Amino acid sequence: MDFTGKKLFLAPLAGISDTVFRRMCKEHGADVVVSEMVSAEGLHYGSAATAALLHFDKTERPFGVQLFGARPDHLGRAAEYVEKTVAPDFIDLNAGCPVPKVVRKNGGASLLRDILLFSDMVGALVKSVSVPVTVKIRSGWEMHSWVDVEFALAAQACGAAAVILHPRSKTMGFSGHSYWDRIAIVKKALTVPLIGNGDILSEQDAARMFDTTGCDSIMIGRGALGNPWIFSRIKDLIAGRPVHAPDASERVQTACEHLRRHKEIYGEKKTVAEMKKQASWYMKGLPQAALMRTAIFGARTSAEIEAALLRLLPEK
Ligand SMILES: Cc1cc2nc3c(=O)[nH]c(=O)nc-3n(C[C@H](O)[C@H](O)[C@H](O)COP(=O)(O)O)c2cc1C
Repeated sequence: MDFTGKKLFLAPLAGISDTVFRRMCKEHGADVVVSEMVSAEGLHYGSAATAALLHFDKTERPFGVQLFGARPDHLGRAAEYVEKTVAPDFIDLNAGCPVPKVVRKNGGASLLRDILLFSDMVGALVKSVSVPVTVKIRSGWEMHSWVDVEFALAAQACGAAAVILHPRSKTMGFSGHSYWDRIAIVKKALTVPLIGNGDILSEQDAARMFDTTGCDSIMIGRGALGNPWIFSRIKDLIAGRPVHAPDASERVQTACEHLRRHKEIYGEKKTVAEMKKQASWYMKGLPQAALMRTAIFGARTSAEIEAALLRLLPEK
């Protein structure tokens, strides 16, 4: 797996980046996709719900599985299990999640307060699997007390094949803005590839991140919600082609396709719950979006969600 070459990664998004969403992004130009974060403890204790997050389709390759946890031994065994069952192209360690239930157990961004544990975790992964290991970090725990260079170098020294950097602190959550200058600084310090992440919401943002940071590849999260075209748009811009912008009818049709595929895999009940938010993201920015959202959130079945979407299509 090559992490260089200005590749476009879809970010891990808990509760969102399932196989259907990942495939929509892939079909619209994402080069690499990653599972949402998967609990190493959940896999260690045989949770069926956790194992279900490992559902990948072969068309998603190359893909990564992201693990989180705080015990190197359990992490190593979980990674062995993942390698055996889904043979991902790489395994990523989550060292950036700020959510209290993850941090309280010393996982996610909490690892950024303990470089020895962090190094043990990376080392355990590298020792347990033969696929490349990557590490996704934030720039630190506290704003402006940046530890990204130190942790990225530690990951590299422990055998990580690449580092992914979201340059916010844990305490910032998703507020303010990401500090792209940190990406440039970490890039200069590393010999392994660096994947830049944070606040890429348009093709112009993507080009600016490449130009101003020198990162090897980029990762996109929120900018892809209801907007898988962000990947093809970035590729259009970089290649100097006219940028394809989907019209209302393409957005509706894509949302409906997403909904149908979701129902096929996850069934009616989950689809109604999940597709309300996904469908309203697809409609974001359209003049009728507010009205549409009311209809979508009032829907009781997936057919009603689809009907609400289709009402947006121009009359033939
Ligand atoms: C709803 C949501 C879920 C997320 N889940 C994960 C996750 O499971 N693992 C992870 O490393 N980061 C997770 N993140 C962080 C993103 O992967 C990404 O680092 C962050 O959103 C910044 O990138 P963006 O500005 O392109 O969204 C999540 C972010 C959001 C908004």
